[in-house]
Amino acid sequence: MTTFLVYILMLPFGHATLPFVINTWPFKDATSAAWSVLQAGGSILDAVEQGCSRCEVDQCDGSVGFGGSPDENGETTLDAMIMNGDTMEVGAVADLRRIKNAIGVARAVMQHTEHTFLVGESASVFAENMGFTAEDLTTNKSLSIFTQWLKDNCQPNYRKNVLPDPSKNCGPYKPRAMLKQRKSERQIDIHAHDTIGMIAIGQDGHVAAGTSTNGANHKIPGRVGDSSVAGAGAYADSTAGGAAATGDGDVMMRFLPSFLAVELMRTGADPSSACKTAISRIKRYYPEFFGAVICANTTGHYGAACNKLPGFSKFSFMVSDSPSNVPLLKSVDCF
Ligand SMILES: *[C@@H]1O[C@H](CO)[C@@H](O)[C@H](O)[C@H]1NC(C)=O
Ligand SMILES: *[C@@H]1O[C@H](CO)[C@@H](O)[C@H](O)[C@H]1NC(C)=O
Repeated sequence: MTTFLVYILMLPFGHATLPFVINTWPFKDATSAAWSVLQAGGSILDAVEQGCSRCEVDQCDGSVGFGGSPDENGETTLDAMIMNGDTMEVGAVADLRRIKNAIGVARAVMQHTEHTFLVGESASVFAENMGFTAEDLTTNKSLSIFTQWLKDNCQPNYRKNVLPDPSKNCGPYKPRAMLKQRKSERQIDIHAHDTIGMIAIGQDGHVAAGTSTNGANHKIPGRVGDSSVAGAGAYADSTAGGAAATGDGDVMMRFLPSFLAVELMRTGADPSSACKTAISRIKRYYPEFFGAVICANTTGHYGAACNKLPGFSKFSFMVSDSPSNVPLLKSVDCF
């Protein structure tokens, strides 16, 4: 009997009572923040914004918000997006400098412009004009990560086919003739990519989704990953469902896994298998990619899937709805 109950609790899929919220990783306080908004009768967009903002303040795992993932110049820049599954409006920012509340700026792009996506220095100027405070995103922690990286001859980094040999040297780099492609020996650091991705489903089955991240440690300045790209980092469509992805964004964004999962749910796939197919599609080309996807449909059924790697055999996520009223930790076995 006990075993049976444990098994039920560990199921990687489930059914929540609407409204509910689901997010990547055990970022419990983000779930609580979003859930409080829903409980108070707030909108699903506000829930997603407040939930992801919580992680930006808390610097969830160092991979969301200020003071994490310094780039090759030691600067932290942020990527975020938010999507309204009723209207299909999206607000997104990437390579955002000096502003801590990236998902807030993404929301402002959605609410106060006809655009979808603003990037870089110009996005920061937009944010300041919209009333966001400009602050230094560097902390002692990000500074020490950066300093150590310089001491280690800029290892690891994301360069290839350049001189001097990027596996031993810092830049500046120059292109070099392409050699026969060697298998990437990049170390998998599963904590280098812990984006928060969140889906909120309203009482009436309406869907919103969003993400926030500071990207990847030692990224090349200007690099934008999957998180801020609609269909890659997250997707919401109130006629089908929502999905959000986390992991190696450079690879994952080539497959639009969130869009794919939502389309599969539209054609009747249950959320678990929609997530699994989105992962399988990437696996076919990159068997060793690190990543996970969460999926939820408009009746509150949800699931998740992840690509099994040495050191990554389970993926944790959070769910909150009214019967639970507290964030519940769920996990799925990777395959
Ligand atoms: C950062 O480091 C400096 C110098 O080591 C120290 O004076 C300062 O208190 C530290 N700041 C924080 C927030 O820890
Ligand atoms: C959501 O998924 C569950 C589980 O597969 C399914 O029973 C339900 O009909 C789906 N809801 C919708 C609206 O498709």
